[in-house]
This record gives sequence, structure tokens and C-alpha cells, in this order.
Amino acid sequence: MQPLTIGIFDSGVGGLAVYQEVRQRLPGAAYVYCFDNKHFPYGLLHEDEVIQYTLDAAAPLVQRYQLNLLIIACNTASTVVLPPLRQLLPIPVIGVVPAIKPAAAATKTGTIGLLATPATVQRRYSDELILQHASGCQVLRVGSSLLVDLAERKLRGEVPFLVDAVAREIAPLFASGPGPKQLDTVVLGCTHFPLLAAELKQAAPWPVQWLDSGAAIAARCSELAHKYHLIEVDAPPPGIAVCTQTDPTAQLLGPALRALGLQSLTELRT
Ligand code: DGL
Repeated sequence: MQPLTIGIFDSGVGGLAVYQEVRQRLPGAAYVYCFDNKHFPYGLLHEDEVIQYTLDAAAPLVQRYQLNLLIIACNTASTVVLPPLRQLLPIPVIGVVPAIKPAAAATKTGTIGLLATPATVQRRYSDELILQHASGCQVLRVGSSLLVDLAERKLRGEVPFLVDAVAREIAPLFASGPGPKQLDTVVLGCTHFPLLAAELKQAAPWPVQWLDSGAAIAARCSELAHKYHLIEVDAPPPGIAVCTQTDPTAQLLGPALRALGLQSLTELRT
């Protein structure tokens, strides 16, 4: 039996949405949140670069902080890096998958949206998910890097925050207008986007269901902790945030990180 020590990795702040779900479910775990701000945003990189950067950060992260469970809380990375990462690391690795399957089950009109990074919407992984689980649905794909950036700015406390900008980004999803086949379910296939839940809701021309994978990941963590005899403790140590480059922009995240229980911010030196 070992105390459960969970690492959560993303290019930026998106994984914090996943972290919150996991922490709610497993409050007695120790947490290390790592973000690769040196190479952010992943959604505009070639997939080979995403694989390389994730592998480069994950190995020292696991070793330095003695992690026994790692979550790749980034769809852009998860859709390409999981097989090599699982080969490299001696611990269980959980990835995030866009919630296409639950969306196909939830839609009443048969029209669903996939809102993700430009990389994720184009991935073969997404094609296969859609083919496997939503072949009877019309799936509208919209890739946005601006929404990723807006989520980062929101967490840094940069206001005023523009609902108008969010509305412009999601407009293509709603372009067909209302009607019997209108969009009724949108998959948030980028972990940054649940951080904009309020703005997305406000910006949508009509109400839709917004689905993400946070709760499913938290459930999977709990299963794996049980399977590998990793235990929660009554007084876990304070959470730690780790970036790949200490710069003023990263420092601006301090208040948001501390509010989420991530007390210190240090640099991962690989
Ligand atoms: N949070 C990441 C995801 O889930 C992407 C953000 C980025 O483009 O770096 O896809």
C-alpha cells in the first residue's frame, strides 16, 4: 500500500478543470500539476512535437515527485502520446478522450459538435471515435486556439473577459440555425474549454448540453487507485504546481493555482 500521488499534465491551465474533478473524488491524494508553458499551445504544433515534449516532461516529473498515477489532461496530447508514454513509464497513465460516445447517446436531434483544438479536430483518433461511436450522427467539428488562449487569460485574471469573442469562435457550430436537426450537444474536446463554461453558455444562441470528460477521468482514477492499492490519507501534503519555464506569465497564475490548493510553483528542469 502506497499513498496515492497523482500527476496531472497539460500544456497549460486546461488540466486544472480535470484536477478539480479528480480532487473532489479523491481528496486524500497528493497532487502535482505540471504544465508545459514552454511549448504551449500544443494545438498548433505538429503531432511529433507534441509527443516529444510530453515524453520529455513526463519522465522526470514521475521520477522527481514519485508519482504513482499520471493523467494526461490534454486531448491534443492524449490523442497521440498514450502508447509511447505507457511504454516509457512504470506507472498507470490515464488520457482524456473527447466525449463523443456520451454525446452520441445524449443527442436527441442527431447533431453534435466537437469543439477542440485545431489539432484534435483533425486527428485520425477523432475520426475513429466518430466512426465507432457516432456514425449515425452529424458531427460538426470546430477547432479553436483562441478559446484556449482566452481560458489562459481568464485564469490569469485578465479582464474584461469577452463573451463576444467566445460567441465568434463557436458561431460555426450554430451556423445551420435552429430547426429539427439543430445542434443540441457539444463535446468540449479540449480541457481548457470547461474553464469557459459560463461564457460558452452565455454565448450560445440557443441552449445545448456541453459535455466533457472530467467526471469519467475522476472515476477511472478511483478505479486504478483501488486496483494498484494506492491509498488516500487523512492529511495529504499541499498540492504543487510545476511549469517548464518560469516566466512572468506563469507567475500571474499564482493566485488561481493557490485558490485550487496548489501552494507552490516551481520549474521542472529536465
Ligand atoms: N488543453 C489542451 C487540450 O485538451 C490543449 C491546449 C493547447 O492547445 O495547448 O487539447
